[in-house]
Amino acid sequence: MPNRMEKVASDVMGAVKTAKAKIEGLSGVFQHLTREHGEVTALLLRVKMTSDPRVRAELFPKIRAELLSHEKGELAVVYPVFRERIELMDFAQDHDREAGLLEAQIHVISALAYDDARWADRFAELVDLASKHTKEEENKYFPAAQRVLGPQVSAELLPLYEQAKARAAVTVS
Ligand SMILES: [Fe+2]
Repeated sequence: MPNRMEKVASDVMGAVKTAKAKIEGLSGVFQHLTREHGEVTALLLRVKMTSDPRVRAELFPKIRAELLSHEKGELAVVYPVFRERIELMDFAQDHDREAGLLEAQIHVISALAYDDARWADRFAELVDLASKHTKEEENKYFPAAQRVLGPQVSAELLPLYEQAKARAAVTVS
């Protein structure tokens, strides 16, 4: 039976491989967002495997800043474009709800001390929410948007997303 460390290493490799396969069918902002999912997933799994409050204290603020600025960038730039297209507008609705859940869970964890006995369970819930959310985006929302919007709009949205994310990062970190 694989030990815990091996299991986490294989989860991380799995996330990287999945993200790589997904990226091949996507371009512009959708490829970039999928790559960011792979990076934050590796951090989430790294923190999930430890109960050391020092590792949590070092990495959780990075995870929080990354998840919040990523979501705010998407909400400001990407999903408003979904709302303009009949084929995509339902995804924008679903996305808003899921982003709200993610944000609420991040605030729940932020209110706990890093050595609180509840920290691991609350963090595991965040990992599950983030994983469900990124899978939905990568398997459903992004491929549909890539098809409907095409490579040119996908490329044009990338610098706009990066600016919105950078603006959001100032307020969330
Ligand atoms: Fe999102």
